[in-house]
Amino acid sequence: MKAQINGITLAYSDQGTGLPIVFLHAFPLNRTMLAQQEEALSLRFRIITIDLRGHGESDAPLWRYTLEQSADDVNALLDHLLIQQAIFTGLSMGGYILFAFYRKYAHRVKGLILADTRAQADTLEGKDGRFQMAQTSYKKGPSAIVDIMLSKLLSPATIQMRPTLVQQVRAMIEHSQISGIAGDLMAMAERPDSTPLLKQITCPTQIIVGELDQATPPPDARLMADQIPNARLAIIPQAAHLANLEQPERFNQIIAAFASELSK
Ligand code: MLT
Repeated sequence: MKAQINGITLAYSDQGTGLPIVFLHAFPLNRTMLAQQEEALSLRFRIITIDLRGHGESDAPLWRYTLEQSADDVNALLDHLLIQQAIFTGLSMGGYILFAFYRKYAHRVKGLILADTRAQADTLEGKDGRFQMAQTSYKKGPSAIVDIMLSKLLSPATIQMRPTLVQQVRAMIEHSQISGIAGDLMAMAERPDSTPLLKQITCPTQIIVGELDQATPPPDARLMADQIPNARLAIIPQAAHLANLEQPERFNQIIAAFASELSK
């Protein structure tokens, strides 16, 4: 489905009925990375997956990107769908956007699920890495960043033994537009430190991390779990950064249990 949101076309899927759960994907991917969550969880909940501005079938304007603007897009899409409140699940960059969303629209958040993400801002070295990646993708195309990204996203065992999954992630990156890749790299580099926000998060919160996640490793997840009042933490074995793709059943169980409690 498509909607006109904040001057661009935003693509999304809306499946199932019941308590809405909105999913925000990781970088530089799109909502198809959430297909297994949509399929399993839409039997019990209303699952909304969004191609964030710059990704998938949504427009990728050649202009300035900020995570706050993506949060504004999500807010406007909720208005369009007549949804007052939802559970929000953010994977990695999707989690960064949820911090921006919570700053402005906390009243819409019934529960937060922060998966393979972190509250801290980029280090200087991290910002420089984003600049280099933007230049590489601009000069050589998105396929040039596949090999840099893959080992950050998937575990060594997955890369060796699950060629179909590797190909799926590769294709998502290769089909991304440069304007979206570069725009989001800049947006992530500029994002503020969200650590001071953690203590102010008052809604029920579930943190999820793959035990092998190197991009946003378990200590980052523990920091969020320690600082957000009453947050719970689940560590998924044999999963790296894209835990929802590597261990979908475990990932879905954690979300279903959390959402079921909030449905009562
Ligand atoms: C992501 O998965 O969204 C990215 O790895 C996040 C990042 O680069 O910080």
